[in-house]
Amino acid sequence: MDVVVEQGSLTEIETPLLVVNLFQDAAELGGATAAVNEAMGGLLARLREDEELRGKAGEVTLVHNPGGMALRARRVLVVGLGRRDEFGAEGARRAAATAARKAQELRVPRYATVLHGAGAGGLAPAEAAEALAEGSLLALYRYDQFKSDAEENRVVVERATVVERDPGRIDAVRAGLARGAALAAATATARDLAQGPANLVSPAYLADQARRVAEEHGFECRVYGLDEIREMRMGGLLAVNQGSANPARFVVMRYRAPGATKTLAVVGKGICFDSGGISIKPAENMHHMRHDKSGAAAVVGFMQAAQTLALPVNVLGIFAATENLPSGSAYRPGDVIRARNGVTMEIMNTDAEGRVILSDALSYAVEQQPDAIVDLATLTGACVVALGHHASGLFANDDALADLFCRAGEASGERVWRLPLWTEYDEQIKSSIGDIKNTGGRAAGAITAAWFLAHFVDGRPWAHLDIAGTAWTEGGWGNLPPYLVKDTATGVGVRLLVHFVRLWAG
Ligand code: BES
Ligand code: MN
Ligand code: ZN
Repeated sequence: MDVVVEQGSLTEIETPLLVVNLFQDAAELGGATAAVNEAMGGLLARLREDEELRGKAGEVTLVHNPGGMALRARRVLVVGLGRRDEFGAEGARRAAATAARKAQELRVPRYATVLHGAGAGGLAPAEAAEALAEGSLLALYRYDQFKSDAEENRVVVERATVVERDPGRIDAVRAGLARGAALAAATATARDLAQGPANLVSPAYLADQARRVAEEHGFECRVYGLDEIREMRMGGLLAVNQGSANPARFVVMRYRAPGATKTLAVVGKGICFDSGGISIKPAENMHHMRHDKSGAAAVVGFMQAAQTLALPVNVLGIFAATENLPSGSAYRPGDVIRARNGVTMEIMNTDAEGRVILSDALSYAVEQQPDAIVDLATLTGACVVALGHHASGLFANDDALADLFCRAGEASGERVWRLPLWTEYDEQIKSSIGDIKNTGGRAAGAITAAWFLAHFVDGRPWAHLDIAGTAWTEGGWGNLPPYLVKDTATGVGVRLLVHFVRLWAG
């Protein structure tokens, strides 16, 4: 679908579907909706009086044009914006997503829409436009590579047209729409890679896709194979990889912003499939572990976003990719492994493999001397227990960095919640045979995992995002925002990182 802007009047536009909106608690219909109401002879106001239109967030009401009116649209879709004091860019994203889904359900090839939030909602036109394109495009995402019936899954909506009355606002709206489309496209890249089954998305495939995205968008990408990973003394990645028939990959991408003074390193966990290894997982739900590469997928998507949005900082995108499988050559509980930075780790549980491969990836990142490091990883079930699906876990050794991520979480709709990294927790992962062990017991499992990672960042400003609960949607989420697709990878992290960089760049 394309999202475009046209200068004109909502009542005069000829369209099979016109999308307007309504706040739950507003005394009167908002400007654009009021104009449409007037052209319909007061029909919307009457529906509101009869409480058939309430404006609650997520509510959609389809109203047919009875004909003989000063309105050219065949049908009007009224989407609820919820309470005005709770409204922001996220409300605009959700309204747009709800409308796009309804248009797809109605199988209209195109629709026209107001710019949600740009009136009484108080958003700047460009911001509202970004949210509209982002929300509607994300909502229509689907992973259909393996669906035989292409027709059943086809996106039938080809175009959404924002109708803007003020010619002076057109440029800002157009720029905002382009940014929203870029964010949605980069998120789709991450979703595709995270969603792909492990029999397709091997470490080699993941690296190839990173290279393909890099070539298409024009940033650098270097892929290291098994021999080079050995030369680089990446003991953690090699240990986890040794049980798998598919060789590991280590990938380094670079986006250079002209004139930039700051460099951000973004590091992703790329476990293409996590069986647990010798400490094998129960069979139930093991299939979800194809999503265990969601951190790496987010890094690739974010590199794409950095390039297409021309973000004002340099970005170093890094991921380590391997499967975690049991076999005669698999690494074992009790093994002691040396990471690239020299730290030795005692393996207590081969299922705590994410931190083991990240040890090398973080060590490598530190050597590049970035101004800040952020890693994304589907790291612990404990984080899902703590926060569920509505926030990623945030850990940081730097308060300023943590605050920026919290703000970026609110701005992007990809919320984070900070958990503490007090030194007391570090005691839980001291090893008797080596420096640290890869599990710290049941207590505070997400925090001890973060502490493990802290041993590889050499005190540089660093944030860790545990995305175990937010990387894909499945049954029990409840309240799924309309721009996320059921039982599908979310692409979490891409939009969060873009908002973070907007704040961090200053
Ligand atoms: N990939 C898993 C974490 C995970 C679990 C992500 C559920 C999403 C949903 C990770 O590698 C893992 O297995 N962690 C273990 C660590 C434990 C052995 C200390 C866990 O959380 O159970
Ligand atoms: Mn695991
Ligand atoms: Zn894992």
